[in-house]
Amino acid sequence: MVSYEEYLAKHSERMILDDYYLQHLAETDEKLDFVRQNEEGVVQYYVPPRDYKLMSDVWLNVRTRGDVTDFTTEKHVELIGKISDWVAGEDGLVLDFFAGSGTTAHAVMDLNREDGGERKYILVEIGDYFDTMLKPRILKAAFSANWKDGVPQDRDGISHMFKYHSIESYEDALNNIRVQPPEAGQLELLRQFDDYMLNYMLDFQTRDSPTLLAQEAFEKPFDYTLRIQQGHESPEDTTVDLVETFHYLIGMHVRRLEQYEHQSRTYVVSRGHVRTERGIEHVVTIWRDTAGLDLEQEADWVNRELLTELVDRVYVNGYENYIDNAEPTEITFRERMEPRTPP
Ligand SMILES: C[S@@+](CC[C@H](N)C(=O)[O-])C[C@H]1O[C@@H](n2cnc3c(N)ncnc32)[C@H](O)[C@@H]1O
Repeated sequence: MVSYEEYLAKHSERMILDDYYLQHLAETDEKLDFVRQNEEGVVQYYVPPRDYKLMSDVWLNVRTRGDVTDFTTEKHVELIGKISDWVAGEDGLVLDFFAGSGTTAHAVMDLNREDGGERKYILVEIGDYFDTMLKPRILKAAFSANWKDGVPQDRDGISHMFKYHSIESYEDALNNIRVQPPEAGQLELLRQFDDYMLNYMLDFQTRDSPTLLAQEAFEKPFDYTLRIQQGHESPEDTTVDLVETFHYLIGMHVRRLEQYEHQSRTYVVSRGHVRTERGIEHVVTIWRDTAGLDLEQEADWVNRELLTELVDRVYVNGYENYIDNAEPTEITFRERMEPRTPP
């Protein structure tokens, strides 16, 4: 009551109540309450201005069930589009952990097509219909907004880039364990000792398994493979993108990816930054096959041609290199792959 009376007495001629409330909040960080009685004696409470949008509660005109695919719980593009538009604005990021048939990607693309926005999306899906339903839907939605019986009705394709990752699963880890047969003496030990020894032996016997990232992975980083099973197919040797995996492990925002040829081999170089507790670190990663490298010649070329801007950290695969201030990628790689023990 006091605040409202004070407002009426001192400020109401100069500014409306909303402006008084916001000015007071900015100056003192205090949120004022205003209460008054109207002419009929009814108590009225002041509702301050908000910086978020109130959604319309009229949903009757929004279709909810989608029919683009035969997915049983497909939502309608209109419904997800309306929600995405409210929450994400023209350049926001829409995250859908339960992507299903991919309605969210479709809706975001349609919104961008309509208003030239630059919304992005991230989808997560556990089902193996990702390959047969979700991915084809994204491709089709980019090609045309309007399809009938498998034929595009409009030629209104948009420029679109999407990237997808399969995350290593428990089954992948099991498929990649390679056990070396124990020697006779070790077998004898196994018979004598308990579970602890069994664990130790398993660790020892499987130390060369690809899931544990043997040193060879860092000598030929572009050839590193794991046996990966897709659906019900038998596992196949599949190349793993170590460069990208490392970006994720260190939380790197990649600004540029570059490719060079030097000493008859390919160099992949990424530039970007990592947010750390100490602030932003500018990072360069350098990857190449290490066999037969002339390290001095390499360092000369890298220092002169590639490290021309100020950086805080340079990661290079392989333990040996003469590049200025470079550290071996594998140390950080392995540290980040280790399961963290809870505090
Ligand atoms: C109700 S559907 C989503 C429908 C979607 N909005 C559409 O319009 O097609 C839920 C989806 O979440 C997926 N899902 C459930 N648990 C998951 C998890 N832990 N990780 C990833 N996806 C998951 C299911 O496989 C299913 O495809």
